Amino acid sequence: FEVTWDIESAEKGGYQHFMIKEIHEQPKALKETLSPRINKDNDIVLDDIKLTEEDLEKINKVVIVACGTAYHAGLVGRFAIEKFAKIPVETDVASEFRYRDPFVDDKTLFIAVSQSGETADTLAALREAKEKGARVLAVTNVVGSRISREADDVFYTWAGPEIAVASTKAYTTQLVAMYLIALSMGLKKGTMTREKYDQILNELKTFPEKVEKLLQNQQLLQELADKQFNNQNVFYIGRGIDDHVGREGSLKLKEISYIHSEAIAAGELKHGTIALIEDGTLVVALATQDHLYDKMLSNIKEVKARGAYVIAVAKEGNTEIEKSADIAIYIPNTLDELTPVLSVIPLQILAYYIAVARGCDVDKPKNLAKSVTVE
Ligand code: G6P
Repeated sequence: FEVTWDIESAEKGGYQHFMIKEIHEQPKALKETLSPRINKDNDIVLDDIKLTEEDLEKINKVVIVACGTAYHAGLVGRFAIEKFAKIPVETDVASEFRYRDPFVDDKTLFIAVSQSGETADTLAALREAKEKGARVLAVTNVVGSRISREADDVFYTWAGPEIAVASTKAYTTQLVAMYLIALSMGLKKGTMTREKYDQILNELKTFPEKVEKLLQNQQLLQELADKQFNNQNVFYIGRGIDDHVGREGSLKLKEISYIHSEAIAAGELKHGTIALIEDGTLVVALATQDHLYDKMLSNIKEVKARGAYVIAVAKEGNTEIEKSADIAIYIPNTLDELTPVLSVIPLQILAYYIAVARGCDVDKPKNLAKSVTVE
């Protein structure tokens, strides 16, 4: 008799890696982050955070600061707060923010986003903002973390422990946190109608189910990974919030597969990056936004004309994209404002299977740490 399992494989619950386990935990993580915050009247209850109408009246600027994946969630946060609450928002990486003497005062709402709540640069930025009089809200996944202790208010993402270095379920729950904060601010400020608010919130509530549906079929992505794992360069293109998601997709790939990858706003292609597209270069093109769809089709044609192999991500039903791209991956139909939570899922899965195909140590990539507590 031989014991063939160890504690670590028991913790992986039958999955080969923590990363893929955590990818599959997203429906549950989203549900746990969403449900306790929405009451029976469809009002958002942000735990103990008291952002009253008077508080919001005073706030004339929001600054979102974070690192890595959390920064990418902060970019979507900027979009959501500006769109729903009509307050100007700046999103910055913590290591830049703290060294540039930023404009922050007592009329600023400062939001620090951090899975671990321990990242040194984010913490230092938070302290600086506090010193300048800003009200500080932390969005974090770890109860009792340093950032949660030093903030005035805390919104916890209930993603559960994230073990893999490459963040997945923390990111999608951070997105939900940003949407809930933005919607709640928008309704209180009267910058969005109750009807629009209800429409968006009701759609958000369907996301655990929609993500579950997306996770059911990974065969196409696995086959693509098995064909594309030898690429030297991969480019992610998108416009608006698709660009923000592209950055997260690109980060996932480089973190765990060690392939050079880069995300750029599709409109910027012609200002440089297009020079790097050659026969067989892999381009992942996100085209989930209706008002930018035609522009993305043109960008796809531009890179195709230079020999790129294009994987497009679009909303289901938008099959016209198959005429321009080599392959289309569809996400369930949803409101354009909310697509990031869905469109990032195929990018996480693609990065995962490419790293597996390359034989990489997916959960513990070289040179990277889960939590960076040094500056
Ligand atoms: C490290 C991790 C990333 C993470 C970043 C910020 O680089 O490897 O996955 O996004 O730190 O971490 P935080 O805990 O502040 O979200």
